[in-house]
Amino acid sequence: MITGYLHTPFNKSLVMGGILALTVLFPTCVMSTPEEIMRALELTPDIENGKKVYPLCANCHMQNGWGKEDGSFPVIAGQHRNVLIKQLSDIRTKNRDNPTMYPFTDPGSVGGAQGVSDVTAYIASMPKDPEPGVGSGQKLDYARELYRKQCFQCHGKKGHGDNESFIPSLKGQHYAYLLRQLEWIRDGYRKNSNPVMVGKIKNMSDDELSAVADYLSRLK
Ligand code: HEC
Ligand code: HEC
Repeated sequence: MITGYLHTPFNKSLVMGGILALTVLFPTCVMSTPEEIMRALELTPDIENGKKVYPLCANCHMQNGWGKEDGSFPVIAGQHRNVLIKQLSDIRTKNRDNPTMYPFTDPGSVGGAQGVSDVTAYIASMPKDPEPGVGSGQKLDYARELYRKQCFQCHGKKGHGDNESFIPSLKGQHYAYLLRQLEWIRDGYRKNSNPVMVGKIKNMSDDELSAVADYLSRLK
């Protein structure tokens, strides 16, 4: 069951297959761009070059990749490389709305598929924010139980996610960003969400989402 969740829905060939299918269905919609982003998965990254490309992202995600405590820009430092690549591709296809960042997901701006490969490897190698923005701290025991029952099977015991399965690490992310994403996932604004996850989140109250976001932001 668990392996089914972890591997079937998000394996690399399925993701690539989906993108290829889109290319066939909509050849005129410049689908080659997200495909080019996903091609980065197959390339060997050059971290030194990634470091040179990164300043493009630092305008918003900051030099250290820790974003902003108010959640306007997420922590990206230390996120799994496959997750970074998939999110860039989803933003590019508007499968995930992010108009502010859209121009920076043009592979041309970071040096093609190789540039995407390099910059994501550099970001994945950066240390995470040791002091992200957190919530009120009032319902952490309750949140731990909720997380264990509903989220643990995919995001892992400590919120570390899984690179191979494209599951984001959630620990040490800013509370305000997590809460916004959870609301968007619940309310259907984040189109790229895993459907099993949506099933679990759609009936959760604002209070429950806030408690879980608080709990995750505090995981080291
Ligand atoms: C103009 C500002 C801006 C720039 C420049 C920018 N981003 Fe972003 N990025 C954002 C915002 C805003 C979000 C959060 C959007 C949301 O709330 O869904 C985001 C989200 C992301 C995410 C998703 C994070 C997650 O946890 O799912 C990734 C990955 C990312 N950015 C990578 C990059 C990379 C790599 C670059 C440089 C090539 C970059 N960004 C440049 C504004 C920016
Ligand atoms: C069936 C597996 C699964 C379950 C269960 C699950 N998730 Fe997820 N979650 C994912 C995947 C996969 C993504 C990335 C979505 C994508 O890119 O398409 C994700 C993304 C997220 C994000 C966005 C992260 C970011 O950086 O933007 C948050 C927040 C999140 N999950 C929280 C939760 C919480 C809280 C629960 C439990 C209530 C949960 N998830 C249950 C698989 C799951």
